[in-house]
Amino acid sequence: MTERLRLTDAVIKYGDIRAVDGVSLSVEAGEFVFITGANGSGKSTLTRGIAGLLPLSSGTVERNGRMSYVPQVEEADRNFPARVSEIVLTGTQGRGGLFYSLNDKRRALQAMDELGIRDLSRREIRTLSGGQLRRVFLARALCGEPELLLLDEPCAGLDSQSHELLFSVLKARLAGGCAVIMVTHDSSDLEGINADRVVTLSHGRILHE
Ligand SMILES: Nc1ncnc2c1ncn2[C@@H]1O[C@H](COP(=O)(O)OP(=O)(O)OP(=O)(O)O)[C@@H](O)[C@H]1O
Ligand SMILES: [Mg+2]
Repeated sequence: MTERLRLTDAVIKYGDIRAVDGVSLSVEAGEFVFITGANGSGKSTLTRGIAGLLPLSSGTVERNGRMSYVPQVEEADRNFPARVSEIVLTGTQGRGGLFYSLNDKRRALQAMDELGIRDLSRREIRTLSGGQLRRVFLARALCGEPELLLLDEPCAGLDSQSHELLFSVLKARLAGGCAVIMVTHDSSDLEGINADRVVTLSHGRILHE
C-alpha cells in the first residue's frame, strides 16, 4: 500500500499552548480516517499542520501525492466578485500552470455535477447560502484530484441530502485510492460512512484510536 501521510511526534504550539502535543499518525491510500474530539481539542490545528499551513514546533510531517484541504470556516471574502465556476476551477491549479486546459474545465464541471451545484455555476459566490458555498469549496477541493483529502468539519451547515451526497462522493474517491481525513465533532457523522479508523483527540493528544 502507498502511504499518503506520515506524521511523527508532531507538536504545534501557539505561544506556550501546545495545541497539538506529540501526535503520530500514518494514513494509507484509500483509507478513511475520522478525527473527533471536543471543541478546542486540537483537531483544526492538527489538520492545518498536516496541510502545511502551520509549522510544527517539533516532529515531522511527510505527505506523498496531491493534497486538497477544505478549512473549517471559509476565510474567503464572501464579497469577492467571483462566480462559482471560477472558484471551483482554481482547485485545478498546481496541476497545469497559469492557464486552464480543456481537461481542467472538464474536471471542474464534473466536480460541480458530483456535488449538485452545476446549476449554480454562473452565480456570484456572495449570493449563495452557507451550505451552497460549502459545496462549492468541496467541489474546488475535488477537482484537484487529490490523493489526500483533508476535510475540517465538512458536514457543518449541510442538509441531510447534501450530507448523503458528500458521503457518496467520498466513497467513490476512496475506491479510487484517495486517502480521506475528516474532522468532525458530531458522532452521527460516523454512521454515514465506514471509517477505517477513528482518532479521538483530547488536549492535543490522541486519546484512543
Ligand atoms: N490562532 C490561535 N492562537 C492561539 N490559540 C489558538 C489559535 N487557534 C486555536 N488555538 C487554541 O488551540 C486549541 C486547539 O484549537 P483547535 O481550533 O485546533 O480546536 P478544534 O478541536 O478544532 O476545536 P473545534 O471543535 O471548536 O473546531 C484551543 O485551545 C484553541 O483555543
Ligand atoms: Mg476546529
